[in-house]
Amino acid sequence: MRKKESKREKHVEKKFQEREKALRKASEIFEQKVIPWFSNYNAALDIGTGSAYTAFTLAKHFKKVVSIDSESKCLKTAKIKAADKNIENIQFFQMDAHKLNFSDKSFDVVICRAAIHHFDDANKVLAEVYRVLKKEGFFVLMDFCFSKKTKDALAPLSRIREDGFRSYYNFHDYCDILENNDFSIEVIYTYTLPRDIQEWAAVAPENIQERIINAFLSLDGSIHKELRLHKEGDQYIISYRIMEIISKKWR
Ligand SMILES: C[S@@+](CC[C@H](N)C(=O)[O-])C[C@H]1O[C@@H](n2cnc3c(N)ncnc32)[C@H](O)[C@@H]1O
Repeated sequence: MRKKESKREKHVEKKFQEREKALRKASEIFEQKVIPWFSNYNAALDIGTGSAYTAFTLAKHFKKVVSIDSESKCLKTAKIKAADKNIENIQFFQMDAHKLNFSDKSFDVVICRAAIHHFDDANKVLAEVYRVLKKEGFFVLMDFCFSKKTKDALAPLSRIREDGFRSYYNFHDYCDILENNDFSIEVIYTYTLPRDIQEWAAVAPENIQERIINAFLSLDGSIHKELRLHKEGDQYIISYRIMEIISKKWR
């Protein structure tokens, strides 16, 4: 029994390390490729800050960082982490991205990483981002990027898996939504991150996780191919594409 438990603990530990590795890769790309693009490092806004991974990186470079999230639970954890790290230049607010409680032209840079797939109305959020950005300020949008076929097949599963999930976007969706809201796209970075399917499904209530995994494994072969589904031991691994878009308020 003890042996079985310790094997399970090792398995969980390995999954945790892999997730950390993926988050670290995303953070490194942000710090090395994205941060140098900015021209002013006074005030940055991080929308949908979650556990504040991105906000902590921003805090190293900006005088002031403002982090918002709609969930008080996330903010509580983020504040504890910030205190542990002795980071003092981040302000945290519980706020809905669709209605930002900031004056016009308050920020040099606005960041929204891994949050747009939760928004009810991404156009409304982008209009708010535009309003709070200074002239020629930068907006960085980062999230998954699938083909139309894959996003259409995966979205219904993701809605069952995670309460707050709304939509995935493909390359053209991102270009349209930014350009229709008067942002000009400066550069796009793309990379893939690995994900263990069991760990992906583990966000769902325990009684439906297996059904979600089976539904995922029953998707069309072309979708599995796009996601590079393969087995490592008894684990199913996918690679999903991330798009990190640096855009600018152009007028
Ligand atoms: C996956 S986490 C983001 C991770 C974080 N941006 C990072 O870079 O580490 C998505 C976050 O978006 C937040 N969120 C979802 N809808 C939101 C909304 N309408 N307004 C503000 N935050 C929202 C969620 O509460 C969640 O913490």
